[in-house]
Amino acid sequence: MRRDQPSTQRRLSALARHLGSPEEEVENPKRITDRTVEVSPAMGFNGHDSIFASIVQAPEDPILGVTVAYNKDQSPVKVNLGVGAYRTEISRERVSADHRSGGFQQIERQTDLRRQQSRYSREEGSYSSMSVGDGLIEGWIGVSGEALSPGLLEDLGAAPSGAIVLLHACAHNPTGVDPTLDQWEKIRQLMRSKGLLPFFDSAYQGFASGSLDADAESVRMFVADGGECLAAQSYAKNMGLYGERVGALSIVCKAADVASRVESQLKLVIRPMYSNPPIHGASIVATILNDRELYNEWTIELKAMADRIISMRYQLFDALTARGTPGDWSHIIKQIGMFTFTGLNKEQVAFMTREYHIYMTSDGRISMAGLSSRTVPHLADAIHAAVTGAA
Ligand SMILES: Cc1ncc(COP(=O)(O)O)c(C=O)c1O
Repeated sequence: MRRDQPSTQRRLSALARHLGSPEEEVENPKRITDRTVEVSPAMGFNGHDSIFASIVQAPEDPILGVTVAYNKDQSPVKVNLGVGAYRTEISRERVSADHRSGGFQQIERQTDLRRQQSRYSREEGSYSSMSVGDGLIEGWIGVSGEALSPGLLEDLGAAPSGAIVLLHACAHNPTGVDPTLDQWEKIRQLMRSKGLLPFFDSAYQGFASGSLDADAESVRMFVADGGECLAAQSYAKNMGLYGERVGALSIVCKAADVASRVESQLKLVIRPMYSNPPIHGASIVATILNDRELYNEWTIELKAMADRIISMRYQLFDALTARGTPGDWSHIIKQIGMFTFTGLNKEQVAFMTREYHIYMTSDGRISMAGLSSRTVPHLADAIHAAVTGAA
């Protein structure tokens, strides 16, 4: 395996671009370091201009920027449907479980969590998630996997043998459209026959159907057939641990000696990335997964969250139907998981934000988890006005 820390290089290159360094220096991070220490007497240190004065303002993140705009809005009727965070009926974030403190973790440890994670897999890899897996892949083959466009089976059929395919395990973000089990089986057969390596991104387990087991079916199919795969699991959403971003990367390998070599490479990826994992989030997850009562409580809460989201779908669909809003809105109840891809265009979204104080990403995606029975009529009024040409 080749390992040349491409992500470190990438970060240095991005910083160099912001500092306005010539291309040649972007290629050579050492020179960038040399350059940043050449401080002119007119800069920073004499108390006048900032040494960072030439840094340009970065654009807002398209998703997080929605919340920035929402927070600035003083309207009492404002609604934030941009971020995929679960909210209760009275718009509170749900946070599960208790806290336990402790010391530094070894980079590959968190044994309790690893043991539970292996419900997914036979040979588990290291701790943390997508970026660790991505780091491993970059170091291994020099490129990262590419998400597939629509026409999935055709695209998979055309993919070169050995390609890594990023698959959302359930509750696809942003479309809310998942393959059926039969379709997953077709995907599995095709991928295995072509020697494609599945890399599962599982950020919403439990939110699609309300059942952790049903939502893990896609991954388990690929584990059960004896082939290899990667699964990056996030507990940020389904345990309400947004501030902890706790996750786990499982790598299923055919043989223990391969798993051990893979693990050794993962440690190399982790060392410059974060070195020691934060302990609190992982301890919370491990506590819940290892305690039958807490685990059962979690599954009940998850089901309630999924049911509330489904109820929001029906309420919004009914409200649009009652208003006679032109168009077919059945996708709102057909799609699953946290998000609905409404089909509203950029202008309609801008209109709804301007006139109705409703915030969402400009591609028309709304987080159903951000809605409540109180805000559904307001959203339906806004969609109706946007679609009927008030925009
Ligand atoms: C599909 C998908 N994968 C991964 C993530 C990120 O998960 P985390 O940052 O908790 O690892 C998100 C959203 O936050 C997501 O929507």
